[in-house]
Formats: sequence, structure tokens, C-alpha cells
Amino acid sequence: MTELEQQLQSARTEAEAALATCVDLPALDQLKAKYLGRSGSVSAALEQLGKLPKEEKPRIGKLANEIKNALTAAIAAKREELESKAVASGPAIDVTLPGRRHPIGHLHPLTQVFDRAVTIFRRMGFAVEDGPEIEDEWHCFDALNTPADHPARDIQDTLYVDLPPHEKYGRYVMRTHTSPVQIRTMMKQKPPIRIVAPGRVFRRDNPDATHSPTFHQIEGLYVDKNVTVADLKGTVEFFFQRLLDPNTKVRFRPHFFPYTEPSFEIDLSTPHFRARGKEWIEIAGCGMVDPNVFKSVGYPDDEYTGWAFGFGIERLAMVMWSINDIRLFTENDVRFLEQF
Ligand code: DAH
Repeated sequence: MTELEQQLQSARTEAEAALATCVDLPALDQLKAKYLGRSGSVSAALEQLGKLPKEEKPRIGKLANEIKNALTAAIAAKREELESKAVASGPAIDVTLPGRRHPIGHLHPLTQVFDRAVTIFRRMGFAVEDGPEIEDEWHCFDALNTPADHPARDIQDTLYVDLPPHEKYGRYVMRTHTSPVQIRTMMKQKPPIRIVAPGRVFRRDNPDATHSPTFHQIEGLYVDKNVTVADLKGTVEFFFQRLLDPNTKVRFRPHFFPYTEPSFEIDLSTPHFRARGKEWIEIAGCGMVDPNVFKSVGYPDDEYTGWAFGFGIERLAMVMWSINDIRLFTENDVRFLEQF
């Protein structure tokens, strides 16, 4: 055996021994460079082939190629083995972990109050009515027995819309309350009427914790023969007991509204407020529909009686959830909204 043959054989033995003990991929890369790399020992032996006597060249060349191929295959096999081990021993994937959830939104707190209120009234047989947010002075004020010199119509309190006035109904205003829906309903239908009108209203107010130039109300109207204050009180009490707490108490205090006579303010007392030392909270206005209102919608004299009420949704929501700033409802800060 020539010296070169010996050199090749011992390179093979050495490489195979090293492969058998190789435990990671960096070591395998080193090993490959050492034996098969450009200046590795097998390549060095191959380079010397040229200097060999002619008759020895084919035999030793064949041997060198065999060794090179065998080592290449053994290294590739080892690489596969080490790679699959690396995956198996890598960081564990816990397939039982829940996936990442996308956050799901929900209804705005004011919408929730509207929906709950409307649901309670629907069950009592009330229908839902709607009216325009841009109203005219007649529907918003005159028809509701609120004359032109009434302070509510003052430019200080009402937002007037810069439009040519309606020839019959006067100037356009942003409705200051949902009460004009009473008028619109009575103009298009005869009693019995049982409606609620949820909606947005506008006032010339500077925003602070308790004022907003726009907020929401729910209006109620019941007109039929022989409707009494007792019906009003019973309905309002039932409503708030359903909405807030079965032990809610309701109190009527005499008040004045142009469109009702007599008129009342409604105070509430729930066990929750009572526990916090607050007895009564003023929540709504109401009363028996003034005969002048029936007159403006063309109802016959003395045939019907009715009651109406109106309350603010923001105010109710603030009372229900102890919210102390009305501006939170329109700021749309998710940290606030997601609490409801
Ligand atoms: N419109 C009144 C307001 O905005 C609330 C109100 C009071 C409505 C008495 C009524 C009512 O229907 O009868 O403050």
C-alpha cells in the first residue's frame, strides 16, 4: 500500500470516528471542513494524485473518490439526524393553549339604556316613534303651548339652523327636546296613542361634567279616553322598577311645563342610592297633556285626556352606573366604554 493510500485510509477512519462522536451541527460543519473542505485532508490527498506513477493513478483515484463519496454521504446522514433531534428538543409547543382572541365590541352604554327602556315600554304596548333632529319652531314650541316669548326659545338656549324658514311652521331649530314627536304622532293618528320616542336633542350649552350641547331623551305619550294621573304614576313606577330595581320608589313633585297641566318632576329612590345616603334623585318631567296641545293637533275638545313624560338618557345612565362626567359618553375612550 502506498503512502497516499495509507493517508487516505487513515483520514477515513479518523473522520468516521469523529462522526460517530459528533453531537451537534457546528461540530459537524467543522468536521466537514476538516476532511472534505478545500484544504481538508481528503482533498489534499486527491491533489497529490497528479504526482503518482501512471499505473497507480486509477486505483488510488478510485479509492480517493470512494472515500470522498462515503464521507459526504455519512456527513449528510448525520446532519439529518442532528437536525431532527434539534427540532424534537427545541422549545415545546403546547397545542392545548387557547388561541389569541380578537377583542369583541359591544353596544354603547347609551344604546343599552335605550334598548332596555324601549323593551320595557314595548311590553306595555307602547310603539316606537321617531322625528327629525332638525325641527321647526311650530312643532318644537308653538304646538307644545310654548309661546314665542318663552325663555326656551331664546337664542341663548336654542340652536337655530341657518335655513330659510318654513312658510307655515317658522324657523328651523335643532330640536331641544323629543316632545315635538308627540305633536307629529298626534297629527298623523287618532287616539288611542301609546308611544315612546327615543332620540337625540341639542341645546346651546357649554360642555362641562353635567352639560353637553347634545344629549338624548326618551319621550312618552299616552292619549285615550279617561287617562288619569294614576295611570301616569303607575306606568312610570313600573318602568323604573323594571329598569333599576323592584324596590325603586317614585315621587311626583309639582312643577311647570308649558305642554302639561298639571306637571310634575319625577324623583327616584333606589335601594342602591339609599345605601349611599342619597335619598331622592330628580330624573324626569311629566304631566297631563295640556288641552292647548290637543287643540293644536286638531283633536276635539274634551274627548281625550293623556299624559306625557320625558327624561334624559345620559342622566339616567350616569345614575345607574355612577358615572360622573357626561362627556365620557361622546369621547369614545375604549377604557371607559368597555366597562359596560
Ligand atoms: N321636554 C322636557 C325637557 O326637555 C321633558 C318633559 C317634561 C317632557 C314634561 C314631557 C313632559 O313630555 O310632559 O326637559
